[in-house]
Amino acid sequence: MTSTDAKEQAIKSIARVGVIGCGQMGAGIAEVSARAGMDVVVHEIDAATAERGRNRMISSFDKAVARNKMTEEERDATIANLTFTTDLADMADRRMVIEAVIEDEALKTQVFSTLDKVVEADDAILASNTSSIPIMKLGMATERPENVVGIHFFNPVPVLKLVELVTSLMTSKQTIERSERFADDILGKIVIRSKDRAGFVVNALLIPYILSAIRMMESGFATAEDIDHGMVEGCNHPMGPLALADLIGLDTTAAVAESMYEEFKEPLYAAPAMLSRMVEAGLLGRKTGRGFYDYS
Ligand code: CAA
Repeated sequence: MTSTDAKEQAIKSIARVGVIGCGQMGAGIAEVSARAGMDVVVHEIDAATAERGRNRMISSFDKAVARNKMTEEERDATIANLTFTTDLADMADRRMVIEAVIEDEALKTQVFSTLDKVVEADDAILASNTSSIPIMKLGMATERPENVVGIHFFNPVPVLKLVELVTSLMTSKQTIERSERFADDILGKIVIRSKDRAGFVVNALLIPYILSAIRMMESGFATAEDIDHGMVEGCNHPMGPLALADLIGLDTTAAVAESMYEEFKEPLYAAPAMLSRMVEAGLLGRKTGRGFYDYS
């Protein structure tokens, strides 16, 4: 089979995508899926939140048009591929549903249990964009754990190429292969595979690094600016660890750290007090206008 045939077959077998949650990750996943020609239904909890997600996506398309990365026709065709809903029952005819709600195990489990009841096709893939929650726990919330897989994207989704494909002990070979084709052939992402351990590959390395930077700042050893400049100028990272925590969201950073600490009980995964206090204060980074830096 040529690569064009493989792509066409993958498109046909998926074609109808659902995305649960339209925050920064969900909006990015819906955007790249719609840009790849998929028919995408996006779910949000209420009409106002769905409208905010839709506006965020439209402004991203407008920016792409202004930067000559997309024509106006492509933008209009992409927008036409997107539908918004507040009813999970609208996922019934989807062949691939990607959950991207906040990093809360109880909420994600509930979403998977509902999707299991409403999604009709026996071979539909139920995927999670979780950063750290075991895929097995989400799979066992359904009657079809063999169809449940982790497809973990990186922020900003339209820019970063990587996807971690996370398989539980119960994920079937067919689900793994079809998910890989979706991420690779359809979305054009680079796929790495990970077993089902909290943090998977990238966060297992990234989160202790970010937590060390927070501890360094907390102890008064160096300023946020100097820590970030150190890694940008000294190691050629695109951004420093504290600016990156602000981009990821401090609530998400803390939630991922907590899942990893719960799994491994190692101090390097424990959230520093400063991170917990900032989350309690609602200083969540870029999305709230203030984190380690001020974005207002
Ligand atoms: N959507 C679409 N395009 C975007 C974008 C977005 N949200 N943000 C930036 N871009 C594009 C810009 O349009 C620009 O494109 P051109 O070069 O073609 O004009 C390009 O990306 C660079 O953007 P900027 O010039 O605005 O800024 P920059 O050069 O400082 O790059 C950045 C910004 C892409 C965020 C870069 O700093 C970066 O890659 N940072 C590291 C991000 C990272 O490590 N993410 C992983 C987080 S971990 C995670 O997500 C997983 C988890 O589970 C926690």
